[in-house]
Amino acid sequence: MRTIKIFDTTLRDGEQAPSCSMHMNEKIEIALALERLRVDVIEAGFAIASQGDFESIQKICEVVKDSTVCSLARAVPKDIDAAYESLRGAKNGRIHTFLATSPIHMQYKLKMTPEKVLSTIDEMVRYARNYLPEVEFSAEDAMRSEKEFLARALETAIAAGATVVNVPDTVGYATPAEMIEMIKYLQNNVRGIENVTISVHCHNDLGLGVANSLAAVMAGAGQVECTVNGLGERAGNAAMEEVVMGLRTRRSYYDCETNIDATQIYRTSRLVYNLLGLPTPINKAIVGTNAFAHEAGIHQHGVLANRETYEILTPQSIGLMKNSMVFGKHSGRHAVEQRLNELGYKLSKNAVDDLFKRFKQLADKKKVITDQDLEALAGRKILKEPDFFKLDRFTVNCGNHVTSSAVIRLQHNDKLLEEVAIGDGPVDAAYKAIDKMIPAPPHILEDYSINSVTEGNDALGEVIVKIKCGDKNVIGRGLSTDVIEASIMAYINGLNRLL
Ligand code: KIV
Ligand code: ZN
Repeated sequence: MRTIKIFDTTLRDGEQAPSCSMHMNEKIEIALALERLRVDVIEAGFAIASQGDFESIQKICEVVKDSTVCSLARAVPKDIDAAYESLRGAKNGRIHTFLATSPIHMQYKLKMTPEKVLSTIDEMVRYARNYLPEVEFSAEDAMRSEKEFLARALETAIAAGATVVNVPDTVGYATPAEMIEMIKYLQNNVRGIENVTISVHCHNDLGLGVANSLAAVMAGAGQVECTVNGLGERAGNAAMEEVVMGLRTRRSYYDCETNIDATQIYRTSRLVYNLLGLPTPINKAIVGTNAFAHEAGIHQHGVLANRETYEILTPQSIGLMKNSMVFGKHSGRHAVEQRLNELGYKLSKNAVDDLFKRFKQLADKKKVITDQDLEALAGRKILKEPDFFKLDRFTVNCGNHVTSSAVIRLQHNDKLLEEVAIGDGPVDAAYKAIDKMIPAPPHILEDYSINSVTEGNDALGEVIVKIKCGDKNVIGRGLSTDVIEASIMAYINGLNRLL
C-alpha cells in the first residue's frame, strides 16, 4: 500500500483567497494544528511577497519540528534567496520554485520563449539545490501545457536536482480522465521521474479539485497539495479533509493511505474557519454543519436500524465526538474542560478559567449550552487576545422615530473612559463612541456579519467585523446573547488587535 504525502498550502495558496489574509499568530496556530494533523509538508508562505510572510515562515520553522516546512519562490534568484533565508531555522526545509509552461502563460505573462523557460528551470532548480537538498519544481498551468513540452520541463527540473515535480491544474480546467492520462504520460516519457515524487495541485474552478487529485493518485501521484476547508484562490484548492477521508474511506479501492491523524480534522477545520472569520458552510463535505445530520425520516429510521445504511464515515473518525451530556448552570469546570478536550480544544489553565467564567455567565442566560456554544467560547480563547481596552458597560437608545445614540464606557488599564455618540442605528452610534476613545490608526469597517451560534430565542449571537487599515485587515469577534453587546465587543476586539 502506498503512502500518499499530504502537502498543505492553507498558509500560502489558502491565504491568497480574497479576505483570507492572516497574521503571524494566526499562522503559527494553524501551522501547529497542521503538525498535530501530521501533514507531511506545510507550505508556510511566499517569502518574497512581504516582510510579514517572511517572518511568519521563520517563526513557523522555529515551532514546527515534525512536518517539512516549505517556502515558495518564483524561478528568480532573489525569490529563491528569500525562500532559503526564511527556512534557515527549519528542521526540514523545502524550497518550492515555479515557472509556467503553458503556451498562454509563456507568451503573455512571462514573455519567454519555450527554450528560455527550459534554461531558466535548469538554472533556478540548480540554484535552489545549492541551498537545500529538498527542492520542488512546479510547472504552473501544467494541465494546459503541451504534454511533450511539460515532459521536457519536468525532465529538465529533475536533471537539475528537483526532488518533487508538481503538476498544477492552476485554473481548475482539467477532468479526472485527463489527469490520469497526463500522469501516466509523464511516467512514461520523463527520464528520471521514477526517482522523484510526482505531486498534483488542483484548483476547484469547475468543482473538480478533489476528484482530479484522487484521479492523479490512482495514476501514481505520490503527493497531493491541498488546503484545509478547500480555501484558496478563486473557488479554492482541493480540500485536505476530502482528499484524506476519500482515501481513507475507500482505502481498498485506492490501495493508498496517508500519515494524517484524521481525528484532528474537525478541530483544524473549525480553527481555520474561526480564525478567518468565515462561517462553517452547512453542506461542505466532511466538515460542514450538516455533514452528519440525518433529517429525513426515512434516513433517520435507517440509521437507527444500522448506521451504515446512510453513513459511510463516522463523526468520531474526524474527531467529532457525540455528546451525551447536556451543559447548564450546574455543570462543573471539570466536565466543561473534558468536553472541550473531546472537541479537540487543549487550552491553558488560565484560558479554561476565563472560559469557565464566561460559561457561567452564559448559563445564567441560556438554559442549555451546546457543543456549538462551547466551541464559540473556546474559539476566542485559542489565540491570546490583546485586551488593551475592555467593555465596561453600554447604553443605547434607538427606535424608528429617534436618532440612535450610544454611551459606551471602556476600561483601559486602571482608568474608565466614557463617550457618547449618535449614529445611523445603535451599532453605528456605538462604534462612533468607541472610535472617540480607542486611538487606533485610520481604518474602515469593511465588513460586519452576525450569525446565531445555535437555534432558539436565547441563542448566542456571534458578530464578526473586518477592519481594514491600509493594506492590513484585522478580524474582531464578539459573542453574546445580546446582539448589540456582541457587536460592540467585536469592534473593540478588532481595534485591540489593530493596536
Ligand atoms: O496554482 C498554482 O499553479 C500554484 C503554483 C505556485 C504551485 O499555486
Ligand atoms: Zn495554486
